[in-house]
Amino acid sequence: MLTDLIPDTALNVGLPAVKRALGVVTRVLPIPQPTLMVGPGSSIRLGETISGLGHRRIFVVTDGVITRLGLATPLLEALTRGGSAFVVFDEITPDAPIPLVEKGIEMYRRESCDAIVAFGGGSVMDSAKAIGVSVANDKHPRELVGYFKGWSAPPPIYAVPTTAGTGSEVTVAAVISDPENHTKLVIADTRMVPRLAALDPCLMTGLPGPITAATGMDALTHAIEAYIGQWGTDFTDRMALAAVAMIYENLPIAYTNGQDLGAREKMALASTYAGLAFTRANVGNVHAIAHQLGGLYHTPHGLANAIVLPPVLRFSSPSCTAKLAALAVRAGVGESGQPEDGLARTFLDSVEALNASLGIPARLDTLREEDIPGLAKAACWEADTSYPVPARMSRTACEQLLRQILPVPGGPEPLARQGSKAKAPPRKKRARPRPDAG
Ligand SMILES: NC(=O)c1ccc[n+]([C@@H]2O[C@H](COP(=O)([O-])OP(=O)(O)OC[C@H]3O[C@@H](n4cnc5c(N)ncnc54)[C@H](O)[C@@H]3O)[C@@H](O)[C@H]2O)c1
Ligand SMILES: [Fe+2]
Repeated sequence: MLTDLIPDTALNVGLPAVKRALGVVTRVLPIPQPTLMVGPGSSIRLGETISGLGHRRIFVVTDGVITRLGLATPLLEALTRGGSAFVVFDEITPDAPIPLVEKGIEMYRRESCDAIVAFGGGSVMDSAKAIGVSVANDKHPRELVGYFKGWSAPPPIYAVPTTAGTGSEVTVAAVISDPENHTKLVIADTRMVPRLAALDPCLMTGLPGPITAATGMDALTHAIEAYIGQWGTDFTDRMALAAVAMIYENLPIAYTNGQDLGAREKMALASTYAGLAFTRANVGNVHAIAHQLGGLYHTPHGLANAIVLPPVLRFSSPSCTAKLAALAVRAGVGESGQPEDGLARTFLDSVEALNASLGIPARLDTLREEDIPGLAKAACWEADTSYPVPARMSRTACEQLLRQILPVPGGPEPLARQGSKAKAPPRKKRARPRPDAG
């Protein structure tokens, strides 16, 4: 994302050198972090807190599913009790399409709001960030794509994630989608990081299994890509490793028993930790490919990541064997002291097994052979210009990776290991992860 600052000529002349320089910048760039409120009822506490902050009118961004489920009602009641005026905009749909973001901008202005509560998944949180930065700078979201494209800071943003996946409550990014051009666009600005975020597991107990699975695998992908990439710091490595341990332990529980508040809370925390890791250390080839699949086929972001993760990790493995081995140990699928290449293979197998246990297919049923060259070209451009990947992917290599996830015509059921019948990856007995430990 930082590479949006660089003119194309510089990219063509000295991409590796430029990326190294960006790695230095990104390691020291000050990135604010929200105050976190964690636990059952924390979304109500967030409502009570912001009621006391003297906002004129709060713009609540959410979506129709959340409204139907009444998930935001306790927070809205807290705002009312606290005497805060607010308006609700609940029209956001998955992937934050630009026309809906435009609608939100218009309503924010019409209602003279001065603060934003984002109550929903990544699509809602990212729409809220895009609305905020657009109204503050009087610019269309398209003009703000890239890094620090606006002069003015957005109004205060408060976030209540209702999925455990994107980590958008702590990241500098807003991903919106352009339905006209079938692309996903990224606005990045450290001032869009929310001031407060509530991780309330009660909001997530009704999240359907497939969304729990896909969003959880998005969080896992953030942690893995931040860890195996080249821009990691001690802090991001600690966050990424803690997130991986928590996800391996809790995602299978949250998937099979959605009502388990403990597992839901751990998943919410893991998603936030993974967000803290990748907002500085960035993501990699999995996201570069998944963004193209999301733009063209509207594949849910987490699902696209989950399907692409195993083949990309196998491709990258020779360049990051030691890190994959460390991930195996933290994930609880291997013992430290074992040979690194064996541990790395165990970790790769465990990711496939985890996918299968969550009912995630190994192949993407909408992918078409004729789209592969264009998808690979766009993915390689995104990776080459933005991500500190452990292994550079040529266009041919990317095409080969995509062919591995093509649906097999008339072939067997395209699940990694016969989906729902597969068991979660076997985990070694290990100490419970410490949330703050790396
Ligand atoms: N800003 C970032 O740093 C960042 C990082 C990763 C992904 N993203 C973006 O976030 C978007 C995906 O977000 P997401 O994966 O959270 O999904 P989402 O926000 O699109 O939500 C998926 C579906 O789940 C429903 N839903 C949400 N919470 C629910 C709940 N508690 N109970 C029942 N249903 C619920 C929504 O209504 C929606 O239909 C993509 O556009 C992706 O590119 C952003
Ligand atoms: Fe992601």
